Amino acid sequence: MELYLDTGNLEHIRSGMELGFLDGITTNPSILAKEKKAPMELLKEIDRIVPGKVWYQVTGRTAADMIREAREAASLCKRPVIKFPMSMDSLQALHAISKDGIETNMTLVYTPGQAVLAAKAGAVYISPYLGRIDDVGASGLAFVREVREMYRTLGFETKIIAASIRGTQHVVDAAKLGVDAMTMSYEVFRDLAVHPLTEKGSRQFADDWEALLGESGTI
Ligand code: E4P
Repeated sequence: MELYLDTGNLEHIRSGMELGFLDGITTNPSILAKEKKAPMELLKEIDRIVPGKVWYQVTGRTAADMIREAREAASLCKRPVIKFPMSMDSLQALHAISKDGIETNMTLVYTPGQAVLAAKAGAVYISPYLGRIDDVGASGLAFVREVREMYRTLGFETKIIAASIRGTQHVVDAAKLGVDAMTMSYEVFRDLAVHPLTEKGSRQFADDWEALLGESGTI
């Protein structure tokens, strides 16, 4: 399973990349806007830090504008994934960009019909937004299950990346479903690594060890 941090915060990106096992960084216009920097400059900075994939979402309104923007963003990254927000123009632009050999993602996918079209257009990834689907009283996980079954039946190889992950339980649920990839905030990622009993146990081990070394001075 591929694992990404969904952030444009350089400090968080550095700290995540130091771990060495993350697959890259996903972004969207809102995430980049938070950093209050020129977006293409920020994208370059992110790519300098990230050895893996860097995902950039196009903001153009027409297919032609999206294609131009996608090519520009892709030229700034070693391993770009270009995101398109689901629409007819995006389907056209995504198809053109995937023919360039650039990896693509259809994002803001909320229905099985959209998921079929995205796969048919050549999307390498689609992003169901678990949190945002749950917010409107539906089930993000049920949607992922449905799309996965549909892709299997149709033989599409488009990968499902669970997005809009709101907490550790979403991660566990998506993992049980066998998603191909996940992206999450730095905060959710950090929460995954901790548990009060882990901390309590570590403190106890450290105290006992220090007490022992205090008496003998050596191991
Ligand atoms: C994914 O591509 C999106 O950037 C992201 O996961 C959206 O999450 P949000 O609903 O927390 O904004």
